[in-house]
Amino acid sequence: MSHDHLRKEVDESGGGSILRRYSSPVVSAKTSVSMKYELKNLATGKVAELNALSGTLGPDALDISHLNRDLGVFTYDPGFMATASTESKITYIDGDAGVLLYRGYPVEQLAAQSSFLEVANLLIHGSLPTNAQLREFQTSITRHTMVNEHLLRFFQGFHHNAHPMAMVSAVVASMAAFYHDTMDTHDPRHREIFAHRIIAKLPTIAAAAYKHTLGQPFIYPRNDLSYCANMLNMFFAVPCEAYAIDPVAAQAIELLFILHADHEQNASTSTVRLAGSTGANPYAAISAGVSALWGPAHGGANEAVLDMLDTIGSAANVGKFLTRVKDKSDSVRLMGFGHRVYKNFDPRAKIIRAMCYRVLDKLGIGNDPLFELALILEEIALKDEYFVSRKLYPNVDFYSGIIYSALGIPRSMFTVLFAIARTAGWVAHWQEMVSDPHMRIGRPRQLYAGPRQRDYQPIAARSA
Ligand code: ACO
Repeated sequence: MSHDHLRKEVDESGGGSILRRYSSPVVSAKTSVSMKYELKNLATGKVAELNALSGTLGPDALDISHLNRDLGVFTYDPGFMATASTESKITYIDGDAGVLLYRGYPVEQLAAQSSFLEVANLLIHGSLPTNAQLREFQTSITRHTMVNEHLLRFFQGFHHNAHPMAMVSAVVASMAAFYHDTMDTHDPRHREIFAHRIIAKLPTIAAAAYKHTLGQPFIYPRNDLSYCANMLNMFFAVPCEAYAIDPVAAQAIELLFILHADHEQNASTSTVRLAGSTGANPYAAISAGVSALWGPAHGGANEAVLDMLDTIGSAANVGKFLTRVKDKSDSVRLMGFGHRVYKNFDPRAKIIRAMCYRVLDKLGIGNDPLFELALILEEIALKDEYFVSRKLYPNVDFYSGIIYSALGIPRSMFTVLFAIARTAGWVAHWQEMVSDPHMRIGRPRQLYAGPRQRDYQPIAARSA
């Protein structure tokens, strides 16, 4: 067994304690200790031995859970640049190679051959369902699509121009009020009912948020339609005339939902896990995930990309815009570019880019000016030293908004659609976490940099 040495300078006060060997209780049978590392306090000579845990793919992770006990220090990693927060069997990303696997299956294969509900089932249960299992799952999701009428009344409390993400987050959180006493997170059947309910009802809640902004009546779900076709119907149908669902639109949404279904420990999924780790009602945990997803650095980027393209206006302004993006004193970023994990083309972006051509062509808007502008921007950015040297490539959201827009979906709803798809992943991660007998509350530590202890001053004694 090899021993790599991690060395860290510490000041004289940085003490340590005796070296201990241990095995982590949170490691599953599949995760093995592959190597040992030593971390030495150079001031005191004290050493901690750290196990490197190997998963099935990807880099090892150093188990530092006993570091504070052994050396009296914490690790410091703002933004979790190098910290694995959990072990997971759901999704694997190789950011350098541009690989994304759901339960081991390449996302490209799933995008070409699967359906969103099959992918949701795969994420939650771990293997591809049989025909009978998939039918049962689809039936259960279909039968749970209606929401309690009282829940729909919440929408009346929102102003007509409330952002749909705010409404969806609030209404999902309020589902906890409807299903609290009947939700025992330790009961696998209760967990399953929760999973089916939230996946089934999210499109209904999203459509209600949209209809509320339009001032139109809510459209009830239709059990004869597929998941995505039903969602489109609830968005666009009105009671006074027939609405024909465009199969191109339903297919495009299906594909986008597959691509957005999970992405391992991203900000919103980690939020769901953290909220859920307290034992909170899972609907409340999903609502926390919806809120986290909304930010422009995460799922809100699809909306921000189109706002950015509008701001740029035409190809003539691309150079000027990129100069602003590269100026560190300017807060403007190239939205839809860059990713914490991908340092190569986001594999989802490749698929969506190709889909953009197909969908726009089929809809007869092949020369959509926003898409043309996006392609010019992409081409220039990919040759620019600033983006090349930082390995900044288009991410999934660079193109998704263009497709949603072409399908007639308003910008403020883009992130809501992302939330519907990502609910499958959130549920899978929540399930994985709560069914782990070693689950612990998530509770990071900090490097305190505030004032030392001081005495309270009466107000008369304080100077300005
Ligand atoms: N435009 C301009 N510069 C960028 C961009 C960008 N979009 N993204 C990263 N950079 C630069 C940073 O300024 C930094 O440069 P520096 O080293 O000179 O300081 C370097 O690239 C590294 O960037 P970080 O911000 O440190 O990378 P981080 O991993 O923290 O952020 C993020 C990743 C948030 C996705 C970032 O790339 C970004 O803001 N992108 C735009 C928003 C976006 O598209 N988000 C969607 C992500 S995909 C998803 O969540 C669905």
